[in-house]
Amino acid sequence: MAAAVSDRIATLSQGDGLVFGCDYNPEQWDRSVWPEDVRLMQEAGIGLVAINIFGWSSINPAHGVWDFSALDEIIEQLHAGGIRINLGTGTSSPAPWLTARHPEILPVGEDGTVFHPGGRQAYCPSSPLFRAYAAEVVTRVVERYGDHPAVSLWHVSNELGCHNALCYCDTSAEAFRTWLRARYDDDIAALNRAWGTTFWSQRYSSFDDVRPPAQVLSLRNPGQILDFQRFSSDEQLALYRAEAAILRERTDVPVTTNFMVTAHIRNLDYWTWTGDMDVIANDHYLDRRLEDPRGELSFAADLTRGLAEGAPWLLMETSTGAVNWQPYNLAKGPGEMVRNIAAHVARGADGICFFQWRASAQGAEKYHTALVPHAGEDSDQWREAVELGGLLGRLGEVAGTRVEADAALLFSWESWWAVENEGRPSEGVTYLGQVHAAHAALADAGITTDVVRPGAALDGYRLLIVPALHLISDEDAAAIARAVENGATALITFFSGIVDEEDRVRTGGYPGAFRELLGIRSEEFAPLLPGETVFLTDGTTGSVWTERLKTTDAVAVASFADGPSAGAPALTRRAAGEGAAWFVATQPDRIAYRDLVARLASDAGVTAHPGADRDVEIVRRSGDRGSFLFIINHGDSAVELAVTGHDLVTDAPATGRVPAGAVRIIKEDV
Ligand code: GLA
Repeated sequence: MAAAVSDRIATLSQGDGLVFGCDYNPEQWDRSVWPEDVRLMQEAGIGLVAINIFGWSSINPAHGVWDFSALDEIIEQLHAGGIRINLGTGTSSPAPWLTARHPEILPVGEDGTVFHPGGRQAYCPSSPLFRAYAAEVVTRVVERYGDHPAVSLWHVSNELGCHNALCYCDTSAEAFRTWLRARYDDDIAALNRAWGTTFWSQRYSSFDDVRPPAQVLSLRNPGQILDFQRFSSDEQLALYRAEAAILRERTDVPVTTNFMVTAHIRNLDYWTWTGDMDVIANDHYLDRRLEDPRGELSFAADLTRGLAEGAPWLLMETSTGAVNWQPYNLAKGPGEMVRNIAAHVARGADGICFFQWRASAQGAEKYHTALVPHAGEDSDQWREAVELGGLLGRLGEVAGTRVEADAALLFSWESWWAVENEGRPSEGVTYLGQVHAAHAALADAGITTDVVRPGAALDGYRLLIVPALHLISDEDAAAIARAVENGATALITFFSGIVDEEDRVRTGGYPGAFRELLGIRSEEFAPLLPGETVFLTDGTTGSVWTERLKTTDAVAVASFADGPSAGAPALTRRAAGEGAAWFVATQPDRIAYRDLVARLASDAGVTAHPGADRDVEIVRRSGDRGSFLFIINHGDSAVELAVTGHDLVTDAPATGRVPAGAVRIIKEDV
């Protein structure tokens, strides 16, 4: 699969370099602008252009009316300009006539609010009517352009489930019941067991009485919420599959859709989607609302590579500068865009596409940056875009190489849902908060990690990091224990292994699924207040969480020196088989976390990149075409590293000096 995927991505590039692409919405501009667009795309080295993403109301402006003239023309112009097309199926937002004709398609929120058209994704994902109309659009588009030589990739819909993942309308309720009947083999007793419905008199006598977990007066049933999350992810996947099936009947061109592996979208369990994608593609924007936006970028890129099972992937959308959908849309600083892009490529992207080509003059995203800004060609932003095109053009040899990592971080959307479900011990425990803290500790220690699903093959990884893996099956927990027995070092963090797949607490002492492996038994959680910290006996501090645990067969490496669990072990280690299993019962401060991970890595024989730290990001990709060391200096001062080779950024022999804010991509001497 690996070679095939990298070949597929390579064919999307204009020349020998990595893919450089963008979303293009020519319908927003007068036809006279189009030839100029193509000329500028050629100047920048744009090889792949996504069009027709929001095309529905242009190609099908009224019921039964079809007009492909503009799309025909733009496709011909791009083709004549040697630019490949990533063709949208056009179904991401229904045309206004459709929801006017069939208002029953509109999505409904958990409080019963009907969401009106006028924005985007104004449709219920389970609506058979919507699906039928969308199928007609896809069919017409593929029948018209399926054989066009410029079409190199199919882009199903757009960011499926970005806004409408959770719909509570009657159609969704019916679809949810159908999904539940299949999950529980038509056995209502099985549903009752899974959801624990004896609690609060929630026992069902028939599937007909079950509804989505809409707004209620109290806390809701967590089992019901968890299944609704699973169902909702499956419904979006069903939308993708329906379109992909229509395309695949008529074309062999690869089919994909743009994932949203990002901090603020959590409704889709992409582990269950990957088998349907010909190329894994992700959209990523720096999220300035987070404490560590670029740490999140690195994590998201590693997770995207995990979804691609280590193979190269495509960054389908990102921004050159500010977005317009955060409260404060900060411009990128000097060189920041290139550093962001280098981080994506370092972590496995073989192609970089931007949203969007030309900054809109109208519409909700008119203040979103683009490759061609409102200021036009005579701008630093455009010059930077052209320069980036040049760099991507020099990175062709990187394509198809793999990121080197001996550590794995286990990640699960189901745990994300379960950790943050209602009625939890502390709102301060967010799943991504714990995952990001663990990932940052690895990055600060200079250790590159793969991000894998629970149940993935773990052989080959010497270090396993298991942050807040709250919901886990017996088999997946056993796989971690086996990896440790076989020699891996595992760090399991608090609130992991607490519930089974039905969100049922594993009783007998926490953390049920890992109690034996870790040699500990915890009797009570004792979370901390926001801003509260506790000291450990080793002088470090922890926040967010403590718990009252005892060792049964482990060594207490450090204990809580104060706080609600004073005296209880905070960091434990158990030698198991040829490996070791560690547990940490709090969120260590950033330096302590880095030191802990560095210590475990060195015990496990995992080598860190020399010179890497919180400011200096270093990742290596290697393969048949050589070994490439990515060094990204996010800091304010220059660093000196011992490297030899050719620097593809400066196109000169590597000196080892990386100025403040600079990127070096070194083809290493072997
Ligand atoms: C998403 C969408 C695009 C655009 C960008 C703006 O990624 O797919 O259509 O809205 O966000 O950041």
